[in-house]
Parts: sequence; C-alpha cells; structure tokens
Amino acid sequence: MKVPTLLTQAIGLALFFGVAVEANAYSRTDACHPHHPFKPLPASHARHKTCHVPSHGNGKDDSANILSTLKRCNNGGKVVFDADKTYTVGKAMDLTFLQHVDLEILGTVQFTNDTDYWQANAFKQIYQNATTFFQLGGTDVNVYGDGTLDGNGQVWYDLYAEDALILRPILVGIIGLQGGTIGPLKLRYSPQWYHFVANSSNVLFEGIDISGYSKSAHTAKNTDGWDLYRSTNIVIQDSVINNGDDCVSFKPNVTDIVVQNLHCNGSHGISVGSLGQYKGEVDIVENVLVYNISMFNASDGARIKVWPGVSSALSTDLQGGGGSGSVKNITYDMMTIDNVDYAIEVTQCYGQSNLTLCNEYPSSLTISDVHFTNIKGTTSGKYDPVVGTIVCSSPDVCSDIYATEIDVTSPSGDNSFTCKNVDDSLLDVNCTTSS
Ligand SMILES: *[C@@H]1O[C@H](CO)[C@@H](O)[C@H](O)[C@H]1NC(C)=O
Ligand SMILES: *[C@@H]1O[C@H](CO)[C@@H](O)[C@H](O)[C@H]1NC(C)=O
Ligand SMILES: *[C@@H]1O[C@H](CO)[C@@H](O)[C@H](O)[C@H]1NC(C)=O
Ligand SMILES: *[C@@H]1O[C@H](CO)[C@@H](O)[C@H](O)[C@H]1NC(C)=O
Ligand SMILES: *[C@@H]1O[C@H](CO)[C@@H](O)[C@H](O)[C@H]1NC(C)=O
Ligand SMILES: *[C@@H]1O[C@H](CO)[C@@H](O)[C@H](O)[C@H]1NC(C)=O
Ligand SMILES: *[C@@H]1O[C@H](CO)[C@@H](O)[C@H](O)[C@H]1NC(C)=O
Ligand SMILES: *[C@@H]1O[C@H](CO)[C@@H](O)[C@H](O)[C@H]1NC(C)=O
Ligand SMILES: *[C@@H]1O[C@H](CO)[C@@H](O)[C@H](O)[C@H]1NC(C)=O
Ligand SMILES: *[C@@H]1O[C@H](CO)[C@@H](O)[C@H](O)[C@H]1NC(C)=O
Repeated sequence: MKVPTLLTQAIGLALFFGVAVEANAYSRTDACHPHHPFKPLPASHARHKTCHVPSHGNGKDDSANILSTLKRCNNGGKVVFDADKTYTVGKAMDLTFLQHVDLEILGTVQFTNDTDYWQANAFKQIYQNATTFFQLGGTDVNVYGDGTLDGNGQVWYDLYAEDALILRPILVGIIGLQGGTIGPLKLRYSPQWYHFVANSSNVLFEGIDISGYSKSAHTAKNTDGWDLYRSTNIVIQDSVINNGDDCVSFKPNVTDIVVQNLHCNGSHGISVGSLGQYKGEVDIVENVLVYNISMFNASDGARIKVWPGVSSALSTDLQGGGGSGSVKNITYDMMTIDNVDYAIEVTQCYGQSNLTLCNEYPSSLTISDVHFTNIKGTTSGKYDPVVGTIVCSSPDVCSDIYATEIDVTSPSGDNSFTCKNVDDSLLDVNCTTSS
C-alpha cells in the first residue's frame, strides 16, 4: 500500500512557498482521519540538517554507523537510510535518547540471524517475557520513508518449533516515546510481535505494511501487528497487516486509543487483552475507538479476552489468570468481515479449556460500556450456526455491553450468538443461549 507521506508533503509545501519551516510545520493531529485522537498530538518541530548513514554492505554490522549518525544528527536533524542500501544490524541498539529527529528509511534495515546473540542481548521488556531488537524512545521522533525493516524471522520460526521458551525479539520496540509518527514503513518477517509500544504517549502510526510468512513447515507464531502496553493517546491508521496473531492488541494500562482504516488478514482480530493474566495486578483498558476495519481470514473480528479467576495454561509459554482491573468505554464501529470464525468474541475464560473450573472462579476484571456497532459480513462457518459469542463469567462483572447493527451470517445463512451472564436486551443479535 502506498500512503502519501503527509510529513514530506507538509514540508514540501512549506519549502515551495519559501516559508521557513518552523514549529507546527507538521500537525500530527490533522494527519489523523476521520477520527481525531482523544487529545491533540504535539506538532513536529522543523529539522535543519541531514545526515546519511554509511553502510558497510556484505552483511557487516552497521549498528555503530547507525548509532553515531543518530547522535551526530539528534536534536533537529534528519537521518537518511539510503534507498539503494541494505543496513545490517547485529547489535541491540538503545535509541531512547532521541530528541526532535527524523529517521527517513528509504532502504532496508535487516537484523542478523544470530539467535544466540539476540537471545542474550535483545532488550528485555519484562511484560510477557517480551524482548526487542532495539528500543526507540525520546521526544518528537518521526520514522518514515517507506523503506523496509526485516527481522530475518525464518530462523526464529524454526527454532521456536523446537523450543517454545526461546525469547524471540520483537521487530519494532517503541519504548518511552513521547510524541512521534511511525510510518510509512514496510515490516517483514518479525520473529514474533511486529510492534511493542510501551510507556509511550502521543504517537501516530500510519501507512504500516506488515507481512512475513514462514517458508518452512513451522508457522510464524505470535506475530501480532501491535501490542500496546502502559501507553496513552495513540493512533494507528491506514495500514495493511498480513499476519498470524492479533492485528492490534491492547494490553494492560492502555487508554485513549484510536485505531482506524486497517486491512487485517490472517489475524486473531482487534483484541482488548489478554488481561488479568497476572495475579495481584490491576489491568486497565479504557477509551478505545476501533473504526473502519476490514478483517479477512481471522479467528475473530472484535475481541475482548480476559483470563479467568483461576490459573490456567494456554500453552507452554503462556500461562496466567487471577488478575483484576477494568475494561471500559470500548467502541468497535464499522467492521467488514470475511472468513472470520467469530465476528465478536467476549470471553472471561481465556486460556482455560475447563468451563466448569472457569465458572467456579469468575474473573474479577470488570467489562463495561462496550459498543459493537455496524459489523457486517460472513464468518468462516467454523462455529456454525454461531457467529459470535459474548460470555461473561458472572453477571456481576459485565455491564452495558451493546451490540447494534450487526449483520453477520455464517456461509449457511445462520446468525446465532452465544450470550451468557450479559443483559441480552442490549444485544440486538439472536442470542441462543442465555442465562
Ligand atoms: C545467517 O546469515 C548468514 C549471513 O547472511 C548466512 O550465511 C547463514 O546461512 C544464515 N544462517 C541461517 C541459519 O539462516
Ligand atoms: C516503563 O516504565 C516503568 C516505570 O518507570 C518501568 O518500570 C518499566 O521498566 C518501563 N518499561 C516497560 C516496558 O514497562
Ligand atoms: C517466561 O519465561 C519463563 C522461562 O522461560 C517461563 O517459565 C514463563 O512461562 C514465561 N512467562 C510468560 C508470561 O511467557
Ligand atoms: C496499571 O494501572 C493500575 C491502576 O493505576 C496500577 O495499579 C497498576 O500497577 C498498573 N500496571 C502496570 C503494569 O503498569
Ligand atoms: C476505510 O478504510 C479504507 C482503508 O482500509 C479506506 O480506503 C476507506 O476510505 C475508509 N473509509 C472510511 C469511511 O473512512
Ligand atoms: C490474505 O493472505 C493470503 C496469504 O496467506 C493471501 O493469499 C490473500 O490474498 C490475502 N487476502 C487479503 C484479502 O488480503
Ligand atoms: C469514550 O470513548 C469515546 C470514543 O469512542 C469518546 O468520544 C468519549 O469521550 C469517551 N468517554 C469518556 C468518558 O472518556
Ligand atoms: C483470505 O481472504 C480472501 C478474501 O476473502 C480470500 O480470497 C483468500 O483465499 C483467503 N486466504 C486464506 C489463506 O484463507
Ligand atoms: C474441570 O474442573 C472441575 C472442577 O474443578 C473438575 O472437577 C474436573 O475434573 C475438571 N475437568 C477436567 C477435564 O479436567
Ligand atoms: C435473527 O434471526 C432471524 C432469522 O434468521 C432474522 O430474520 C433476524 O434479522 C435476526 N436478528 C438479528 C438481530 O440478527
């Protein structure tokens, strides 16, 4: 997908009219469409010098070149990764010192396949054992250029099949970024999640093109498009995601999020959660607007997944349950689905296959003020005649969950929903199981 670089356009226009490019040269808020962010995003300041990153070529590590160029051009510069070059990164780069700087990536940045090095040295982000190839943070940073970041994932997909406890790096770590635009960019072959965004605020992602399939029998697992954590006022828009896990996922303590105009293919949907994974922790997800999503070949369209009140094991490397918190003011408006197992899935029994056990220990994480509206299309038929499921673990923990203008059928024309422990008078769907 080609997305116009609003940033370049704004600066280009300013130069054309001969005006000095000053603060407010580029408004991130105006770039958000049709919905604006919950709070205005800070405008980007002008850049006044350009530095090109040299590359060794032949697969030799360029991380020192990248670091020194970023340091030289930080505070008001633009750092260019040239179009005809491939930059090899063989060392974990801490880029949390960035201030008022642009990274224009025209060429390709490829991370090495040295799985021993990365397992020992990738940045540990603690949450869910996440590690990242690099961590980018600071203030007012723009990364664009429509070039490619390549995670060299194949070696990781194959290794993970042998040992599910290896730590596979995340391609893009946005850690502690206050004010920034990420995209347009092409992201390829991430070893696991494509983006981990933590401790960040006021960031716009746009024009991100994600793809990367395994060439062996070992599928690329856990390739979420975005995982947001401890972050606020983020916009994700105008992007194409071809992956094999959540298209976008809102993890603990994420507020004021707009996600709009996405094409997701092969994913697990746009997910709140999983939440409540860690006993004794309080997880909050509040004020999320998901608008205008096309969802193809997915397990879910709109999804809220909460671990039960009892510990459970989803897989070797993913266990949890027993945490508390709240999910509040979540809107899914306008989604078209095709070949999706559940159009809507709300569960408080995530990771636990024993339903009896789940009902014995209801989740203490509350879900309220949730709106599913204007969702249409055809499911895969996997759960025929059921096309959606809204199941809370007790009536006390779920309130004000609405479904309106839902026009979803299975290939055979059925349209049943499984509804439990929710007020089905607020659900304008055909609930077949109620209690
Ligand atoms: C890792 O990359 C090197 C250099 O590009 C290459 O020679 C080697 O075959 C790769 N190893 C694997 C397991 O893909
Ligand atoms: C975020 O900030 C908190 C508090 O400063 C810190 O403990 C944590 O390591 C940071 N990073 C992540 C990924 O949570
Ligand atoms: C983190 O890794 C440890 C050791 O590999 C494993 O026991 C644990 O289940 C992992 N935790 C998560 C949340 O993935
Ligand atoms: C999330 O926010 C809640 C409420 O402020 C707090 O108790 C909890 O420690 C936070 N969790 C994380 C992981 O930051
Ligand atoms: C919805 O998103 C698509 C891109 O996926 C875009 O082409 C279309 O204009 C958007 N529609 C609205 C109403 O914003
Ligand atoms: C979805 O991805 C598959 C490859 O797994 C591809 O064949 C198909 O064309 C894609 N469809 C859409 C609608 O993007
Ligand atoms: C709830 O989210 C909507 C956007 O979907 C927003 O307009 C509204 O202000 C939010 N409510 C509160 C109380 O923040
Ligand atoms: C994905 O969806 C598209 C459009 O519905 C379809 O043409 C394609 O065959 C699907 N691909 C897979 C891998 O299911
Ligand atoms: C499910 O949990 C119940 C209640 O703890 C227990 O009696 C039952 O044996 C469990 N079933 C399975 C298949 O583990
Ligand atoms: C419920 O099912 C009937 C029969 O298929 C259909 O006419 C009606 O539109 C459905 N209602 C909703 C809200 O989907």
